[in-house]
Amino acid sequence: MPDASGKSTVRTLNAGVIGFGWMGRLHANGYRQLSWRYPELGASVRLAMVADAAESNREVAREQGFAKVVSDYRELLADPDIDVVSIGLPSFLHREVALATAAAGKPFWIEKPMGLSAEQSREITQAASAAGVITGVGFNYRNQPAVARARELIRAGALGRISSARVWLLADYASSPEGAYTWRFSADAGPGVISDLLSHGVDLVHYLLGRIDSLTAQSGIFIAERPLPLGEGAGQWATEVSDEVKTVENEDYAAVLARTAKGAMVTLECSRVAVGPRAEYVVEVYGSEGSLRWNFQHPMDLQVIRRGERGYALQMCAPGDGEFGRYQPGPGLQLSFDDAKTVEAKNFIQSVLTGRQLVPSAADAWQAAEVSDAIVRSNANRSWEEVPTVTGPVTYND
Ligand SMILES: NC(=O)c1ccc[n+]([C@@H]2O[C@H](COP(=O)([O-])OP(=O)(O)OC[C@H]3O[C@@H](n4cnc5c(N)ncnc54)[C@H](O)[C@@H]3O)[C@@H](O)[C@H]2O)c1
Repeated sequence: MPDASGKSTVRTLNAGVIGFGWMGRLHANGYRQLSWRYPELGASVRLAMVADAAESNREVAREQGFAKVVSDYRELLADPDIDVVSIGLPSFLHREVALATAAAGKPFWIEKPMGLSAEQSREITQAASAAGVITGVGFNYRNQPAVARARELIRAGALGRISSARVWLLADYASSPEGAYTWRFSADAGPGVISDLLSHGVDLVHYLLGRIDSLTAQSGIFIAERPLPLGEGAGQWATEVSDEVKTVENEDYAAVLARTAKGAMVTLECSRVAVGPRAEYVVEVYGSEGSLRWNFQHPMDLQVIRRGERGYALQMCAPGDGEFGRYQPGPGLQLSFDDAKTVEAKNFIQSVLTGRQLVPSAADAWQAAEVSDAIVRSNANRSWEEVPTVTGPVTYND
């Protein structure tokens, strides 16, 4: 985009990606697409450097055109030319690397769960705030166009006063006892499915209905031990296993009854061992004038009913619903999981360029982590728990 003097006004930002597995590659894919999907951003993101501990992943990064590939993330953070950082590491490394990234003064887009506890999440949020850097957290279900439409309907009062909601995230990724013991099953990875999957559901409740302020919960482990993988793991789908087994140290399942600050009752359920549902992430919201249902397995369909109508109407996503129109010209077409990640890349880069927090912030992740901690406390104490309010700049009310 040339200015009057003929010079390009497109700003180039150098991105460093730490952890080049599933999520790291999707962050890179998002950056790659920005200049043609969102030319008005006036930014192009250069794939400057990857840091990954595994040679096989470093090789993929080289093939995908990264200018430099290293094994130690500290080398990436020490490079003054790196402008923005993506963190797609196993969750137990998030605290160390996020704190180091904030100390290096670089904005970062980190995967959820950001910290493994409210305390870790507070530390990261406050370090980023002290360093004055923009943060982004991978709560990508906010970017589903049907979720954007649901939020609009709720905010416009189309459902009346919200009385209740049901949210469930049922997956089978850990349903086989033969599945490899990866980092996800260690106590070091936090409270298992609660931080891994339910954090998305908690963020959706915050985004659609406002903050959860108290709850009671029960959780459990159903596959007590798993075989160790052979060789380098490759995310949650590592398949080759040894004869040696290891004890699972965090939750396979949780059920929660919660109340929001605005007085709605919400049930949340999550499982990583549910045979059948593959990624059944559902939100149902009930109000005095109507209700709506959304299921990630049919992500472009929003079911809506108003009091007096005989049945739910299917509202297919269309241009005008969130970012749908950027990706597809009309209803009946789809946005992919990866597209929702590209929307997140755009919101992160736009936040960096404008200084305005447009992508879910570290504080949003801290608030979600306060809910996870309350779930763990409630399960341990068989109690009803209050959820503290965080002090950082949350975006779910914006
Ligand atoms: N937003 C979402 O919907 C979503 C989906 C899946 C995973 N996640 C989150 O993304 C994060 C990463 O998950 P994933 O599925 O991409 O994992 P993954 O195992 O596919 O990738 C992790 C990468 O980190 C690398 N790594 C491990 N230790 C390292 C170190 N010390 N230094 C440098 N690299 C190192 C591994 O080699 C691997 O490439 C997790 O926090 C997870 O909870 C989010």
